[in-house]
Amino acid sequence: MGIRFLLNGEPQDVTAPPTVTLLDWLRETRGLTGTKEGCNEGDCGACTVMVTDAHGARALNACILFLPQLDGKAVRTVEGIAAPDGALHPVQQAMVDHHGSQCGFCTPGFIVSMATAHLNGRTDHDDQLAGNLCRCTGYAPIVRAAEAAASAPVPDWLRDTAPEAGDPPGVHRFTRADDLAEWYAANPSATLVAGATDVGLWVTKGLRDLAPVAFIAGVEDLRGVNITDTRILIGATTPMTEVMEALAPLHPDYAEMIRRYGSVQVRNAATIGGNIANGSPIGDNPPALIALGATLHLRQGDDFRELPLEDFFLDYGRQDRRPGEFVEGISFARQPDRLRCFKLSKRFDQDISAVCGAFNITVEAGRVTAARIAFGGMAGTPKRARAVEAAITGQPWEIETIDAAWDAWETDFQPLSDMRASAAYRLEAARNMLTRCFLEDMGAETRVLKVAP
Ligand SMILES: Cc1cc2nc3c(=O)[nH]c(=O)nc-3n(C[C@H](O)[C@H](O)[C@H](O)COP(=O)(O)OP(=O)(O)OC[C@H]3O[C@@H](n4cnc5c(N)ncnc54)[C@H](O)[C@@H]3O)c2cc1C
Ligand code: FES
Ligand code: FES
Repeated sequence: MGIRFLLNGEPQDVTAPPTVTLLDWLRETRGLTGTKEGCNEGDCGACTVMVTDAHGARALNACILFLPQLDGKAVRTVEGIAAPDGALHPVQQAMVDHHGSQCGFCTPGFIVSMATAHLNGRTDHDDQLAGNLCRCTGYAPIVRAAEAAASAPVPDWLRDTAPEAGDPPGVHRFTRADDLAEWYAANPSATLVAGATDVGLWVTKGLRDLAPVAFIAGVEDLRGVNITDTRILIGATTPMTEVMEALAPLHPDYAEMIRRYGSVQVRNAATIGGNIANGSPIGDNPPALIALGATLHLRQGDDFRELPLEDFFLDYGRQDRRPGEFVEGISFARQPDRLRCFKLSKRFDQDISAVCGAFNITVEAGRVTAARIAFGGMAGTPKRARAVEAAITGQPWEIETIDAAWDAWETDFQPLSDMRASAAYRLEAARNMLTRCFLEDMGAETRVLKVAP
């Protein structure tokens, strides 16, 4: 028994090497060429497919989705969106009616994203379609089509029921943390694959051989956001979409920052554990979590340990993680919401940060009584601005204090220049974020989507 899934309603049982992508398999093995290859790295949405499992129907990018990730799920490609008798889905008809397609290359990806959003009752069309790039039609007719289709009922044929998972030979796929812990401790050189939004590119762009590979996104006891009166615990395999939804009522600024984290397709796959474990200096979660005073939970076999998240990042590309040890989750105290997150990227949507700053500043009787400030994109690791924190703590919360902290920024950070931003720009942007934080506190509107032209 191989990898078992439904493809456009038809059962499949496939044996394939573990890092074959769904996109390659669809196009090269099955001749289903409706799903397009644009960037092959998760950026353009031309390869969007709908994947249904116990957690619901989600849009995902097939170019960075390995076949074993589909085991026990149902997949719909653009060929499976119209009715079996060929009648168009409401979003397809609306795209025709509203002239939503010109060259047509992006159209299959848009159709699948729109059909998935429609099935889920989503009407935030701009967000739902931010991961689909169109170079010729422009978004207005496409969004008009999505609006026009919104009230139509969901066609019955799209409501897939996921099949039983298979037992593919040579594929290590885990559903329980205990099993993963035992296997990984014995196979510490294996590559863990969670959402594959980083690892997928190692294969499609880096052409790397990752064997042996362990698929961990299905580890259900590490998935979910547990909120108690005192603590918030986020399991490592929780996709960013779920993190965003759970944190929105508690830390709305954090959730708003996640809304600009990749796209719907990326957030549906990317896990919070992967974003921390990859050690990237520009991952968007670590600054916010460090500012919240988060604790990282690690496990190696039966050995569990915890450490402050900021201590996990030792140096560029080096983390405090032992062989065979994995991220179990991340937790932080329930606290009054003071968190401000500022993500600065060249493009507003679907772009990696040039600088990402998170500020958790407590002001009592006009004075700063506590400050945790953390940044991505300012050093080889996510890093706290300890000198800036020290410079403002105990001082009046006023613009003079922020000006007086000017030199402290250079004590904390000597950023690099790269294709995203120059060192001087990064330093200036970081300083300005503290000013912005202060101005927001004083009631000024600084958000780019809200500032009136
Ligand atoms: C188009 C695109 C846009 C993106 N936009 C953003 C963005 O805006 N902001 C941002 O921060 N990132 C962004 N990313 C990067 C990526 O989505 C994130 O880093 C993501 O959270 C990684 O999670 P994953 O589950 O996909 O990890 P994977 O790719 O599966 O794994 C990443 C690394 O972590 C390891 N790993 C995964 N889970 C664990 C675990 N539990 N324990 C130990 N090791 C583990 C893997 O072995 C691997 O080394 C983007 C990526 C793409 C392709
Ligand atoms: S081909 Fe561009 S996102 Fe997959
Ligand atoms: S219609 Fe040509 S890219 Fe969208």
